[in-house]
Amino acid sequence: MDITQALPLLGGISPERFMKQYWQKKPLLIRQAIPQKQPLLDRAALFDLAASEEVESRLIEQKATPGAKAKSASKKPKGSAWRMRHGPFERRALPALKQPGWTLLVQGVNLHVDAVDALMQQFRFVPDARLDDVMISYASEGGGVGPHFDSYDVFLLQAHGQRRWQIGAQKDLSLQEGAPLKILASFEPEQTWVLEPGDMLYLPPRYAHDGVAVSADCMTYSVGFRAPKQAELGQEILQRLAEDLSDAPELLYKDRGQSAVSEPARLPEGLTAFAKQALQAALKDPLALARSLGEYLTEPKAQVWFDELDDDHGLVQIAEMGGVELDRRSRMMFDDRHIFINGESYLAAGRDARLMRQLANDRAISDKDWRAASEGARELMLDWCMSGWLRVRAQP
Ligand code: SIN
Ligand code: CO
Repeated sequence: MDITQALPLLGGISPERFMKQYWQKKPLLIRQAIPQKQPLLDRAALFDLAASEEVESRLIEQKATPGAKAKSASKKPKGSAWRMRHGPFERRALPALKQPGWTLLVQGVNLHVDAVDALMQQFRFVPDARLDDVMISYASEGGGVGPHFDSYDVFLLQAHGQRRWQIGAQKDLSLQEGAPLKILASFEPEQTWVLEPGDMLYLPPRYAHDGVAVSADCMTYSVGFRAPKQAELGQEILQRLAEDLSDAPELLYKDRGQSAVSEPARLPEGLTAFAKQALQAALKDPLALARSLGEYLTEPKAQVWFDELDDDHGLVQIAEMGGVELDRRSRMMFDDRHIFINGESYLAAGRDARLMRQLANDRAISDKDWRAASEGARELMLDWCMSGWLRVRAQP
C-alpha cells in the first residue's frame, strides 16, 4: 500500500496523514468512504452466522420502562431498560424485524466471510498487531447499544440503512449502574450526523458515542483494533519465558560457603541471589522477549480451528501454477530476526526471510516466487498448507 497516496477511504487524505493527525487523537467523518451498492453480506447470511456456535454474537434490546424516569416511582436500578443476551441465536430467537429497538452484534465476521476479510485488509496501514476484527451490527429502527465509549479505536462503516451518530469528547465517562452493558451515566453529545450507506466515522479510544438506527434494516460494520494491556502482556511473556526455562539444564543451588545459623528461619541471602539469577537466565537469550511477543501476538483467535489436510497430493504442482495465500484466519508477522505465524516462531535470514516477509505483508506469494523459493522455505510452506494455515491458489 502506498501510504502517501490520498484515499477516498480516508476522505481524500493519505494513510500517512491520517495516522499523524487523527489516529488516537480525534474523530473523522468520511462521506462515501466505501460506496455500498449492497451490503457485503445480506441479513439472512448474518443471521446464519449468529446461529453458529463458532461465532460470538449478542442481542441487545431496549425496553421502554415507563416508570424509569420518575425517581421515586422506580426501585429498579437505572439502566434496567437494557437487556443483553449472548448467542448463538436461532432465527426464531431473534425479535421480529418490525419490532423497534433491538440490535444484533456479530463479532469476527472477517474470519468467516472473504469479502469482509477483504474490507478489513483496506485498513492495513495500521500494523496487523493492532488490527482486531470486523463486527457487524444489525438493528431494527431505533436500535442501538446506547451511549458508551470503547477502549479501542474503531471505524464505523454504514453498510445498509441509516444510522444517526452523536459523539462527544466528554471527560466524565462514568457508567450507569446495574445496566448489563456499558452505558454512559450522562452523555453530552457535541456533534450529530446521519450516516448513509458508504459513509464512515472514525473514533479514537474513549470517545463518547451513540448510534441509533433511523431506518429499518440498519447494518453497520465496526473495524476494530486491539491494544494489549500491559499487565496481560507481561503475564503472557513471562509464561512463555517460564516454558522456555523448563528445557534449561538443571542447575542446583549450592551453598558451600553457608555458615552455621542461629536464626534457622531466616532466608539465606545466597538463595535470594540464586532466584535473581534464575530470572536473569530466563531473559539471557536476547531473542526470548521478541520471540514470546511475536508468538503471543500471532496466536489465532479463540474460536479458530484450522482444517488439517491429510494428503499433500498435488499441492506442489498447484502452488507452482498459482502460488500460495494465507488463510483469512492466519495471523502472520515478523521482526528483524523472526517469522511468526499462528503462535509459532521461526528464525529466518537472507532470501528466505525476504520471501516470508513478503508472504506476511501481501498475505500471498506468486507462482513465480514459489518456484524461486529455497527448498527449505517451500517445505515449510507446504507444512503450513497441510495445517490449513496456507492455501494453494489454483491461479494467480
Ligand atoms: C453498533 O454498530 O451498533 C455499535 C458499534 C459501536 O458503537 O461501537
Ligand atoms: Co462503540
